Amino acid sequence: MLLRNVLLLVLCALGAILPGRADDGYRLWLKYDRVAEAGLRQQYQAAARFVASPDNTPVLRAASAELRQGLSGLLGQAVPALGAPGTHTGGIVLRVGTAGNGQLRPEGYRIFPENNNLVISSPTDRGVLYGSFALLRQVQTRQPLAGLRLSSSPRIDRRLLNHWDNPNGTVERGYAGSSIWQWYELPERLDPRYTDSARANASIGINGVVINNVNASARYLTPEYLGKVAAVAGVLRPYGQRVYLSVFWAAPKVLGGLPTADPLDPQVQQWWATACNQIYQQIPDFGGFLVKANSEGEPGPSDYKRSHAEGANMLAKALGQHPGVVMWRAFVYQAGSGDRFKQAYEEFQPLDGKFDSKVLVQVKNGPIDFQAREPFHPLFGAMPKTPLVLEVQLTQEYLGFATHLVYLGPLIKEVLEADTHAQGSGSTVAKVVDGSLDHHALSGMAGVANIGADRNWTGHLVGQANWYAFGRLAWDHTLSPRAIAEEWTRMTLTTQPAALRPLVAMLQQSRSIYVRYTTPLGLHHIMGESIHFGPQPWLAKAGRPDWTAVYYHRADSLGLGFDRTATGSNALALYRPEVQKLWGNPATCPLDYLLWFHHVGWNQRLSTGRTLWNELCTRYYTGADSVQWLQKQWAAARPALDPATYADVAARLQTQQKEALWWRDACVLYFQPFARQPIPAPFAPPARSLAEVKELVRIYQLK
Ligand code: GCU
Repeated sequence: MLLRNVLLLVLCALGAILPGRADDGYRLWLKYDRVAEAGLRQQYQAAARFVASPDNTPVLRAASAELRQGLSGLLGQAVPALGAPGTHTGGIVLRVGTAGNGQLRPEGYRIFPENNNLVISSPTDRGVLYGSFALLRQVQTRQPLAGLRLSSSPRIDRRLLNHWDNPNGTVERGYAGSSIWQWYELPERLDPRYTDSARANASIGINGVVINNVNASARYLTPEYLGKVAAVAGVLRPYGQRVYLSVFWAAPKVLGGLPTADPLDPQVQQWWATACNQIYQQIPDFGGFLVKANSEGEPGPSDYKRSHAEGANMLAKALGQHPGVVMWRAFVYQAGSGDRFKQAYEEFQPLDGKFDSKVLVQVKNGPIDFQAREPFHPLFGAMPKTPLVLEVQLTQEYLGFATHLVYLGPLIKEVLEADTHAQGSGSTVAKVVDGSLDHHALSGMAGVANIGADRNWTGHLVGQANWYAFGRLAWDHTLSPRAIAEEWTRMTLTTQPAALRPLVAMLQQSRSIYVRYTTPLGLHHIMGESIHFGPQPWLAKAGRPDWTAVYYHRADSLGLGFDRTATGSNALALYRPEVQKLWGNPATCPLDYLLWFHHVGWNQRLSTGRTLWNELCTRYYTGADSVQWLQKQWAAARPALDPATYADVAARLQTQQKEALWWRDACVLYFQPFARQPIPAPFAPPARSLAEVKELVRIYQLK
């Protein structure tokens, strides 16, 4: 018996130390494996001997349970719960109250030493929860605990994950398996994933979840489904998250049997008011609605010649005294009314000042559609009277699905830092969105979720870093993507310095590498009609002209790119003069945006000293080659990585390498006859023909 126990202990200890144990990625960045560095571990053990919490709310109970679970794993010792610290020292004390917290926003927290304990204090229990995760993060990233002083408040109030999940379990643009929500099992069975997703969200400060697709089903507004939604809300609530719903505009017709969904019709208004009351009966802290209306075939107020403001305001009125908000999406583009770039602006900007105080307008980061690089959306800075939610896409619809390794921290940061010049220089998108520029009480940031029922949540393991970075930046947009990448890597993969270096470097470079081999110099929307991870620059016929590639790249015998200056669509005029001046001149326009705004001659010399054709080829070739560099970084970190994780990502990198070559070959071969020039030295022309690449892409898109 004794021998068996000793053996068990030895095996457990070995399991914690040796990297040989397969890691399926399910635990995300909340691994809580024992700290291997003995000296550090002892310091942590001395500083976190217990967790004292009044445990008088579900959120506090969740916080103290997470701390105890996390610390006992990390420290390799039991961490008991106390109601209050009493005379005990060397532990963690949770405290809700206003004392000393005057500088904090409601969800902010402070951590400070007191009587040889570490206090996590906040005006709210939610703040204590966030502080608890911050303390765990300290240990997970191997920072000292002794004398720790931290103070942090979220800069944006509504930090929301937008699921594009359908009632039948599919996920629109989801590449990580089916939906995590098991609608047919709810409300009776609560899948443990709901709790684990809520823990992960809380750990990065996400405080709300839109649980269904913007292309919404009316189903969620029925009593049957509201019961299911309420059950999910019950799981998320102790983790500080509210549930929101995407709504189907024509629900009063589909569900209520009304002849119309006109927002000015009293019966329609009554229908929505009743629906809101029913929701709040079941979900008292319901967050509100997200609406995609009159976009891509969805119904909306324009069907009745009403404006988006009239639609949004009707829903806001229906919410009445209930605490929810309406997030109305600006992702609209009417077919055939000129450059798609301008359409959302033309429709929404004139509505500034016309929205109810409960309405926020949700705007994608760029004017087209989540391309690998877009200039910031011109609505940012142009609607000062309306709170604008920044929407970014974590699911990699146009960034290689779940096979390409692309860390999105730099993309999100790039838009947050973009200067709209709305009120002089320094009027960044971040300041528009956090409400500080125009003094809005409401603020929000939304990330289109990349999670699914795949064991590791995101398909590609590095997709987890995108979920992570979104939450961290929504909490504090001043954080650097590099620091976030390192934090995530330390918590998820390894803390060994020799491996951290290549891993963080690869994450940091990955997005610009992806841009180089897919859409360099400001090319955009030249992907496959249905395989958005592959190239199809030749696509000339689709459901509508602005779904083709030729609409966007405008290649001809003279040059390449979309002229959006005054000689072209003049979309540039939607920006402030300072931005126009910079981007309007091909000589000063950053090369990253060049073909977004200019039709550039093939032989035009760029700031790099190369001609456009030469630069284009250089970027496609070096971009595709850089995937090998990514592979090398991954291989360099191998000794520190879990073998199963290593193998999985290594295999995906091989696919990425193959597809980077598709992009390179497809694009240089397709553009070459327009440029009428050879592939410049030192690059070797592709070994295959354009017809062969086209056939490959065709096969991938067969039913
Ligand atoms: C993209 C995406 C659609 C999605 C839409 C949206 O166009 O391809 O699947 O519905 O964005 O954001 O509404």
